[in-house]
Amino acid sequence: MKKIIYRLLLSSVLFAQPLITSAQDYVPSPENLEARAWFDNAGFGMFIHWGVYSILGDGEWVMNNQNIPIDAYEKLPSFFNPIKFDADQWVQLAKKAGMKYITITSRHHDGFSMFDSKATDYDIIDATPYKKDVLKALAAACQKEGIKLFFYYSLLDWNRDDYFPRGRTGTGIPGRGEGQWEDYIAFMKAQLTELLTNYGPIGGIWFDGHWDQKQWDGKKFGKLQVDWHYDELYGLIHQLQPQALVGNNHHLGVIPGEDFQMFEKDLPGQNTTGWGTPEDQIGSVPLEVCETINGSWGFNLQDRRHKSTQELVHYLIKAAAYGSNLLLNVGPMPNGEIQPEHQKSLLEIGTWLEDYGPTIYGTSKGPFTPKDQYVSTRKGDVIYIHVLDPSVKIIHLEEVPVKIKSILHYDSRKKLSYKQSAKFGLQIDLSPLQMDQTDTIIEVRIASTN
Ligand code: GLC
Repeated sequence: MKKIIYRLLLSSVLFAQPLITSAQDYVPSPENLEARAWFDNAGFGMFIHWGVYSILGDGEWVMNNQNIPIDAYEKLPSFFNPIKFDADQWVQLAKKAGMKYITITSRHHDGFSMFDSKATDYDIIDATPYKKDVLKALAAACQKEGIKLFFYYSLLDWNRDDYFPRGRTGTGIPGRGEGQWEDYIAFMKAQLTELLTNYGPIGGIWFDGHWDQKQWDGKKFGKLQVDWHYDELYGLIHQLQPQALVGNNHHLGVIPGEDFQMFEKDLPGQNTTGWGTPEDQIGSVPLEVCETINGSWGFNLQDRRHKSTQELVHYLIKAAAYGSNLLLNVGPMPNGEIQPEHQKSLLEIGTWLEDYGPTIYGTSKGPFTPKDQYVSTRKGDVIYIHVLDPSVKIIHLEEVPVKIKSILHYDSRKKLSYKQSAKFGLQIDLSPLQMDQTDTIIEVRIASTN
């Protein structure tokens, strides 16, 4: 009943709305450009995958991977009671880790909404004994601490009948129905409206699942079989909150209406995954790389592939050297706590950033092509060379498109000797230095390029 009333209400709301500008004519508003600049400088964010799937401790794809029938999976919410969830603690942890924003799953591919949604009963308020809106608590905690909050929102849905035609995934899940695609689009608009009206100012929306509706021949993707109505979805978001940044994990070039571009488990343009975004598709919007702290997005009890703090710091540095933020994921446990080993790594990254944050935040990619042993970031007339391999004795850069004024060791402020010539490029002698096992930073001052 609630659903029917809501649908009636929704159609009157949607059709009564003033004309939404099409994404094709999208010109980012001044607030949006300001938010993009902020995002570009933010450097580091926390990704959170949390849902009723967390109970099973087998990642957020468990419904698909174990082919759990809809009626069985729908029992899960009644066990979801995260009595240890404390939004302030999560936000403080993110802050101590040096993170500037949080992106949390509002609804994942299993179709369960982790917020109070009037568009469905399959949400945290109606279907769990917890009955509290975790996004609301998080929004309040973020607001208090000056952390921006983004919502991950799945386009793909394994639960709803109106997610029809179905996509490539979830094909073995018993009990899926058949409905109308237009209803699904209306449902998403209703939920996005809720997310952009009930939680204060939002950092942005992080879409995922586009690729589910692409044909796949076992080797490569083909055409899309549906219309996602991005013009309308993106237009709605910008109409409700012009500063909210839209991004979509479609692994393609930027679609009009998008404000940032993300790279999943991949440094921009490297396409090491094989399904990543190629270099020639990198857009002129802020970039973000997302990566897991272990091997999973959603809580996985058996996952022992915890990355070391050094590995994580290296990835943060590399992301910055590619001109990108790092969105580092944690999958909180079903009781609402973040795994202690992940908390420890996050705090250690935070300690590193306390000392070396200026070489990451607010930087753009450096002028030198990143190498395995060293990469660079840049802030105005200063280039930071991050030496990730402590066995390096000489830095050799063939192409140096800049005139050098001085070269220092960041920590000790000791001057380093170097040679620069048009023929051989730049050579910096690191032999007098005590190398840091994680990162030795060399500060190169260049003649002003303004
Ligand atoms: C992939 C996965 C999804 C995860 C996302 C995070 O799209 O399907 O489960 O949320 O990556 O980047």
